[in-house]
Amino acid sequence: MTRPPGMSSTAVPRGVRTYKPRRSRIRAREAAALASDSPFLLPIAMEALDLAAVWGPGVPVVAEIGFGTGAATALMAKDDPATGILAIDVHTPGVGDLLWRISRDGLTNVRVVEADALAVLEYMVPPASLAGVRSFFPDPWPKTRHHKRRLVQVGVLDLVASRLEAGGWWHLATDWVEYSEWIEETFAASAGWSGGVVGRPVSRPVTRYEARALREGRTITDLEFRTSASATG
Ligand SMILES: C[S@@+](CC[C@H](N)C(=O)[O-])C[C@H]1O[C@@H](n2cnc3c(N)ncnc32)[C@H](O)[C@@H]1O
Repeated sequence: MTRPPGMSSTAVPRGVRTYKPRRSRIRAREAAALASDSPFLLPIAMEALDLAAVWGPGVPVVAEIGFGTGAATALMAKDDPATGILAIDVHTPGVGDLLWRISRDGLTNVRVVEADALAVLEYMVPPASLAGVRSFFPDPWPKTRHHKRRLVQVGVLDLVASRLEAGGWWHLATDWVEYSEWIEETFAASAGWSGGVVGRPVSRPVTRYEARALREGRTITDLEFRTSASATG
């Protein structure tokens, strides 16, 4: 599978990436899952997916941007088999981990794409097609000069809104208080969204990233925003 040339999103300025390159060891089971030609790993394409053909007509589909390792994604998929999950990350070991969990747990409702989620939303996800989006612990990019790399930007909010059904939701969690304030301010400044800080939903498992943040004494904030019911793609 090769990435089509030019597969980058117009939602952030050219050359800006919301992720940092990470070099981490691939475990044997992750490498085996990546080499397995899994039908649950979708090829990258610059054309829209037929969500009904992938998950079945009328099945609600939720996209997860930046799932990290596959543990939380697999648990949520297992708990909610009637929802289709489009799990997107650029981190190859995590993609291998999620494919391994899909196979181990016999999950049929998850599809994985290894690519920049913003490009996937732009090219592969049809307008007004998603029930919801999840982004748990997006990189906080604390330095001011890196704020442009934050996932939550007005251009990204516009892109996500265009891919959500009317009344669709975006659930985020962060361990960075200043980023949670940034998230609230950015949504408030964007047309067509309402929402804010919510209690931790029982459906969200603790990820490894979150467990470390809790050990280090950081506060976790969950936020949920919805597009207005009259929004169109
Ligand atoms: C701090 S980690 C959090 C991972 C996981 N959600 C968790 O809670 O443990 C952020 C993840 O988002 C991914 N990421 C950031 N920007 C992305 C993008 N534009 N497309 C796909 N993945 C992205 C990174 O590769 C990384 O795995």
